[in-house]
Amino acid sequence: IKKIGVLTSGGDAPGMNAAVRAVVRASIYYGIDVFGIYKGYDGLINGNMEQLYVRSVSNILSRGGTFLLSARSKEFRTKEGRAKAYENFKANGLDALVVIGGDGSFTGADIFSQEFDVPVIGIPGTIDNDLSGTDFTIGYDTACNTAREAIDKIRDTASSHERLFFVEVMGRDAGFIALNSAIGGGAVAMIVPEHNWSIDALISRLKKGAANQKASNVVIVAEGCHLGSSYDIAEKVKEHIPHYDIRVSVLGHLQRGGSPTTLDRVLASRMGVAAVEGLREGQSKVMVGVINNKISYTPIGEAIKTIKRLDDDEFRIAKILSI
Ligand code: F6P
Repeated sequence: IKKIGVLTSGGDAPGMNAAVRAVVRASIYYGIDVFGIYKGYDGLINGNMEQLYVRSVSNILSRGGTFLLSARSKEFRTKEGRAKAYENFKANGLDALVVIGGDGSFTGADIFSQEFDVPVIGIPGTIDNDLSGTDFTIGYDTACNTAREAIDKIRDTASSHERLFFVEVMGRDAGFIALNSAIGGGAVAMIVPEHNWSIDALISRLKKGAANQKASNVVIVAEGCHLGSSYDIAEKVKEHIPHYDIRVSVLGHLQRGGSPTTLDRVLASRMGVAAVEGLREGQSKVMVGVINNKISYTPIGEAIKTIKRLDDDEFRIAKILSI
């Protein structure tokens, strides 16, 4: 491997910059040239790339977002788009590709690497934490901290006014951010796609809390949950307990920004170096992960197809502590 390309794709995540920095510096350390590809796969299709050097990645470790820019490329989903990408890949003399992104980006990476037999390595960068083959994805810890900080603030005003708040967090179809925020933020309940909770069960939990003189009530709702949006749920609860003063807060994209936590910076740095070292050792079509604090490589196809489960024990703990 003499020359590699690196890109960030899909929804951005805090720590992506740290991962790019690690890929660039590890490549140079091992005598490999490295090209930064801009705007995800679109940059590969349009030949929007340039060589990066040690100083090209100075002062980005602490910055959220991705300086390479990101996109959810529609063209790369077509055979023609991928063929154009391969032409540019060859024309620029690239030998391998490092893709930093989530499951959508890895689906593209998997198809591309099989179609053209190109060495590809994935680095999991998504706030959703919904990829198997790693305990945590880059950006998840920062997003959880951001959500928890917001919940702390909401709790202040919730208790002053004795209100019930529904706080909606991101996560697409997964409830990782919700579960983590519920424990870290001390929620009375959480509604996640992975568990089949009903409105009735939620109401009886709330009534129990009221009977136990619970001072403030914050319910965390995962955006992908089966009971609808946080507004829908709030409305249904209001029908059953009309005397509750209810408010809804959707945290939205603020969960995607901000300076990455130390945990995310270290995770991204480890994974970036491991991606380059993996390519040197002949790894391909795999995703780098950290499992039980050890670097591991999982076939990309497996990482995107296996559904990652919420930790049962964390779920149990959230329930015990919400009484
Ligand atoms: O995958 C990251 C994520 O932030 C999800 O949590 C959310 O569902 C989605 O991206 C939002 O996508 P967009 O930024 O395109 O609105």
